[in-house]
Amino acid sequence: MSTRQQHDVLIIGSGAAGLSLALHLPQHYRVALLSKADLNQGSTYWAQGGMAAVLHNRDTVDSHVSDTLQAGAGLCSREAVEFTVRNSKRCVEWLVAQGVDFDLREDQPGPENREFHLTMEGGHSHRRIIHSADRTGRAISEVLTERAVAAGNIEIFTHRVAVDLVVRGERCQGAYILDERNERVELFQARTVVLATGGASKAYLYTSNPDGASGDGIAMAWRAGCRVANMEFNQFHPTCLYHPKAKSFLITEAIRGEGGKLLLPDGQRFMERFDPRGELAPRDIVARAIDHEMKRLGADCVFLDISHQPREFLQSHFPTVMSRCAELGIDISKEPIPVVPAAHYTCGGIVVDTSGRTDLEGLYAIGEASSTGLHGANRMASNSLLECIVYAESAAAHIATNLQHLAAPDQAPPWDESQVTDSDEDVVISHNWDELRRFMWDYVGIVRTNKRLQRALHRVQLLQAEIAEYYGNYKVSNDLLELRNLAMVAELMIRCAISRKESRGLHYTLDYPELLPEARNTVLYPENSMLQGEPDPQSA
Ligand code: FAD
Ligand code: SIN
Repeated sequence: MSTRQQHDVLIIGSGAAGLSLALHLPQHYRVALLSKADLNQGSTYWAQGGMAAVLHNRDTVDSHVSDTLQAGAGLCSREAVEFTVRNSKRCVEWLVAQGVDFDLREDQPGPENREFHLTMEGGHSHRRIIHSADRTGRAISEVLTERAVAAGNIEIFTHRVAVDLVVRGERCQGAYILDERNERVELFQARTVVLATGGASKAYLYTSNPDGASGDGIAMAWRAGCRVANMEFNQFHPTCLYHPKAKSFLITEAIRGEGGKLLLPDGQRFMERFDPRGELAPRDIVARAIDHEMKRLGADCVFLDISHQPREFLQSHFPTVMSRCAELGIDISKEPIPVVPAAHYTCGGIVVDTSGRTDLEGLYAIGEASSTGLHGANRMASNSLLECIVYAESAAAHIATNLQHLAAPDQAPPWDESQVTDSDEDVVISHNWDELRRFMWDYVGIVRTNKRLQRALHRVQLLQAEIAEYYGNYKVSNDLLELRNLAMVAELMIRCAISRKESRGLHYTLDYPELLPEARNTVLYPENSMLQGEPDPQSA
């Protein structure tokens, strides 16, 4: 017998986006906040560099807007960019009021007068990254989690995996949720549902992301009838640690911001050959340059050298990177760090407006799962934590005014598992996971071709047929759900990539190396979309 939960707002995801939204909602609403693992196992906890915001008296909103538009290669929505940047300072103030400790400048007298220490990253024309050493995500995540746990109206459920959304009529009214501890699927009903489920970079063999970045929210929204856009723009971070024992460890871009140089194996610098901004060019350019040089030389990696900075500086600014490298025998104050690009960030996602509203009434999407129009064809460094906080606030405000007009959810049917049995073939899941992530890396990576994309599409469709058969016959598990979602999202990435007949931002194809004169979003409509063929609201 499946159980039933009733809340005003169901938030699926406990990263920066989900936690902030929960804390912004009026306290008389009963809120359920879900995470599929422990609370801090999303990408937020691992964010290193920081959060971009206009804080310095010589920086301006116009400058941050213009850098973001430029990094986005003509595809950002100006409205989304201006909305986000205009709210950046206030969001920093909100985080500080919650108790987040950002680093202060050390060269100013008296702690009470000190300004924030701002660092630099690729694409920014100004120092504007506020941070907590190189563990900014952890600082934000821990403080917001503490606040959410203390809030009387937020009920937290961990190890709960959302399977699918409940749609009644034309409205989202909840979700089916797998409780991993007792392997049962419960029905969570709510007047409003928010997807804050993060990105999908786990679709690739090499990634900076934690396990769990499997695009679940994007796949659920798509199945429920929402449009998904710009999935061809999956960002590759140029510098992840290359070491047999280092799984998914990022070397923050702030190291390049503080003068780190990229070197070939023979010690030569190479970035100036690709862009006058050198190591601080936007990420798409740096990752592609590294990929090019590695392929040209047959090298396993390139190197990032920050050894010109004093040891004490590195210790205070980059303690996480320094200690992880030291564990693996690399002293960053004396030698360069071996690095490679890896899948890092999903720029596209569920199409939303500036209040995080999706196509489906009662369903919102915020954070990395959403496509707000902020990132265009390439996200500028440290704009994503900002997007999480800004849209959490605007979605909460919209929910707060709208919820009272929504009727209580209907009685939805419980999860039916009368036709399925326990799986005796788990090897199918692990095999398909590996196959999917490998061909995505090989065929839908940094440099694409028509032939590779067609090959990937064929493979992903075969995998999906196999997964659908498995899903129909066996009880669901987290691994099966993630695989099903990843395959779905991988197909969306491939379809978007195939339909873009140009090279723009993160999408680079040898078959169409030029930029088309007009920038257009790639918007995919599911078969059950209520908006087939309507004009694209985020058109640049
Ligand atoms: P996440 O923090 O990824 O959280 C997703 C949540 O959804 C998790 O709680 C997860 O359990 C839950 N979830 C997912 N699927 C389900 C499901 N089916 N059922 C239930 N729960 C589910 N950005 C910056 O701006 N600055 C940085 O310095 C920076 N550094 C980064 C460093 C690393 C190593 C990585 C990986 C990313 C970095 N980013 C950075 C990107 C940024 O961290 C993420 O984009 C952002 O944190 C995403 O937040 P989110 O709340 O949308 O999702
Ligand atoms: C980093 O610290 O390099 C990551 C920043 C980001 O992804 O925005």
